[in-house]
Amino acid sequence: MQQDDAPPGKAGTGKAWSGRFAEPLDALTQRFNASVGFDRRLAEFDIQGSLAHARMLERCKLIAAADLAAIEHGMGQILEEVRSGSFPWSIEREDVHFNIEHRLTELVGEAGKRLHTARSRNDQVATDMRLWLRSEIDALAGLLRRVRERLLDLAEGNVETLMPGFTHMQVAQPITFGHHLMAYYEMFTRDAERLADCRRRMNRLPLGASALAGTSYPIDREWVARELGFDGVCENSLDAVSDRDFAVEFLAAAALAMAHVSRLAEELVIWMNPRFGFVEIADRFCTGSSIMPQKKNPDVPELMRGKTGRVYGSLVALLTIIKGQPLAYNKDNQEDKEPLFDAADTLRDVLALLAEMLPGVKARPEKMRSALLEGHATATDLADYLVRKGLAFRDAHEAVARAVRAAEEEGKDLAQLGVEALRRFSPLVDEDALEVLTPEGSIASRSHIGGTAPQAVRAAIARARARL
Ligand code: ARG
Repeated sequence: MQQDDAPPGKAGTGKAWSGRFAEPLDALTQRFNASVGFDRRLAEFDIQGSLAHARMLERCKLIAAADLAAIEHGMGQILEEVRSGSFPWSIEREDVHFNIEHRLTELVGEAGKRLHTARSRNDQVATDMRLWLRSEIDALAGLLRRVRERLLDLAEGNVETLMPGFTHMQVAQPITFGHHLMAYYEMFTRDAERLADCRRRMNRLPLGASALAGTSYPIDREWVARELGFDGVCENSLDAVSDRDFAVEFLAAAALAMAHVSRLAEELVIWMNPRFGFVEIADRFCTGSSIMPQKKNPDVPELMRGKTGRVYGSLVALLTIIKGQPLAYNKDNQEDKEPLFDAADTLRDVLALLAEMLPGVKARPEKMRSALLEGHATATDLADYLVRKGLAFRDAHEAVARAVRAAEEEGKDLAQLGVEALRRFSPLVDEDALEVLTPEGSIASRSHIGGTAPQAVRAAIARARARL
């Protein structure tokens, strides 16, 4: 067992137990307890946090200027070693924090041993995680922006492209492909807002909480917060070291973003099926079959859909990790890292690929149009027409329903019945009814904000571009 937040052993011995312990760590315990295999990924943030802490210690006269200079020098070398891959990572030193502190002491001696004054790994790791996640969110915001721009480009080229809109996966009403794509633009915009909101709440400094109760040294937390770009400090030391809400919020936002990607991916898979044939996806994003020479498979959208599961899994994992923990820090929290890393990596890859793939998606307007002419998609427009002529909506609905049934029996679409035939169901039908029965007439009439008319979609795209 390790002493609660024990130092990394006698410098130079490479042993991870302290004077408190009578025997070395059990080998399996060492492996089980260690996180360096995955948390070394935090190294640059750990160094950044340590440098800010050391500078504050010097300003507050808790370490000498010479110590700070030695720490800065040593950390500079460590950063190079980490970047070049030559840093001597060791499982004996448990985690990223002990590894770096140990190496610092190796390099600069005494000064390295003063760094951990007024600090614990508990507030240190909480700080590292926030710094790391903040930079991940910034990268994700850039990727989401790219996806949204590409959606706008594709929508812009398709404001007049007619397609059937579906409810219950049955042809419902005519829409435009541009309007359909703009629905995803809205989803990804909310995702970007959620991440920004999560970042704002997360951007506070845990350092100074030390192990859990704060510290007896006269430190300056506000100074460290400013130095690290935080908007303020965590207000309660117990909460500062035990809170992982920010990570849950991030995973929830990531899970929703993945849900949106997955819905779009699912539609691409359906649309690419030759029975639909609504879109073509560029060959470079598709794969063949090892046995069937004719196949062109949408593996990329399918994998995007499939990878959603692991991000949902990460969210549930972290919620479960925090639920039974008494205050304050517990080692359970070490388990927050792998789900977070995996979710962030997955979302990054998926968004980057989606942004690449969208320009490779090409609409096939003839196929969309022919599907539209098979489903009586303008039945609602005819009912609305009768209402404008004075009929109550329920009666209009019934009259058109009977007309649809007659069209079905004749193997025709409602729009192909003709004025004479339609008059059998309502004497209010005139020549001008044919106009509302066309898909063009149908979409043109929905020109309000949020509607599918080309002019409304153009306006939505212009508003979106102005906001981006
Ligand atoms: N590796 C640990 C983690 O990821 C660092 C904090 C450990 N603190 C402790 N008191 N054991 O959470």
